[in-house]
Amino acid sequence: MRVSVIVPTFNEEPNVEALVRRVEDVVPVDDAEIVFVDDSTDGTPEEIERVAATSSIPVRMIHRDDPVGGLSGAVVAGFQSSTADWCLVMDGDLQHPPEMIPVLLETGAQTQADVVVASRYVGGGRADGLSGWVRHLVSRGSIALARSMFPVRLRDCTDPMTGFFAIRRSSIDMDALRPRGFKILLELLTRNRLKVVEEPFVFGERHAGDSKANVRQGMDYLHQLASLRFGRMSRFAVIGATGAVLNLAIMAGLMSLGVVYVWAAVVAALVTITGNFLLQERFVFRDLREGRSVWRRFAESFSFNATEAAVRLPFLVWIVEATTVPAVLAQAVTIAVAFLLRFVFHARVVYRQ
Ligand code: GDD
Ligand code: MN
Repeated sequence: MRVSVIVPTFNEEPNVEALVRRVEDVVPVDDAEIVFVDDSTDGTPEEIERVAATSSIPVRMIHRDDPVGGLSGAVVAGFQSSTADWCLVMDGDLQHPPEMIPVLLETGAQTQADVVVASRYVGGGRADGLSGWVRHLVSRGSIALARSMFPVRLRDCTDPMTGFFAIRRSSIDMDALRPRGFKILLELLTRNRLKVVEEPFVFGERHAGDSKANVRQGMDYLHQLASLRFGRMSRFAVIGATGAVLNLAIMAGLMSLGVVYVWAAVVAALVTITGNFLLQERFVFRDLREGRSVWRRFAESFSFNATEAAVRLPFLVWIVEATTVPAVLAQAVTIAVAFLLRFVFHARVVYRQ
């Protein structure tokens, strides 16, 4: 088969029929199928079955009762179920015009592209369907951020956030993918070296129903970028550095209120250690939290960090007194060692599997 048109759906009942009709009109009749990957909680699956029975091309549905990885996970499930040369991914709400499908496939056939991206931001493309200037700004801003973090892999892609693209199935390395959130193309492009060719398109209005995008997706997106770019250790370091700044700010704030510096330092340390723990839970070790209680993890993390903070100063004094290492260098070494110890302790003990 030449193409699987993969459509992730979450509660898109009123859009299914129009989508199938418009897709079947434009794809190669004997060489295409539609694969709905459905996580809906409404009548969408029944509607898909109803429309499938009257369609001129095969329509399959993968209904997931355990929708891991959200929209991106759904698309990957679609890839895994396909045996076609090309997987064409599009939304189920007709914001992606099916009439573009032949254009994308033709470009794929004419070039050596691994991925043909339908872009809103290349000459002739438009993002009309984004509601309001805030979403336009967020869209532009997040693309700029992604492209500056991945200058090489995203060099030829002006719209790594689009959910409308055709990919040669042989170029997908399934094992490398860690799908989550909304941005499957970003995941594909940054984890693999793929040749990208773009075609402009006009992102239209939703046919019916409401968008599933929200602030949560935005947070997920930042997390996704960070995980793609930095390993666990760098995220841990970023949180540690943030904590150090917070520590100083709290200490200064308390002292300006008249608190004695020793107490100010103690309170600052307690707040920072707790804050770091909460951030780590969410952004560094999220996938390793199973199995042990949060209080247990907190107790271990807290005791280790408190001990480390209490031991660091005497240790520094000892290095400076007992060796010829200059104090500033000794401090740098102490901080680096403390960081490594903390990371290793958390990875191997607090979040052990
Ligand atoms: N299976 C599944 N599971 N499908 C989902 C899920 C999910 O958890 N969440 C959303 N979908 C489906 C929707 O039903 C729709 O078909 C498609 O994914 C896109 O969701 P929308 O709710 O329409 O999102 P949007 O219009 O805000 O986002 C679109 O634009 C973004 C760029 O601005 C999508 O094309 C995104 O992929 C794109 O990143
Ligand atoms: Mn949409």
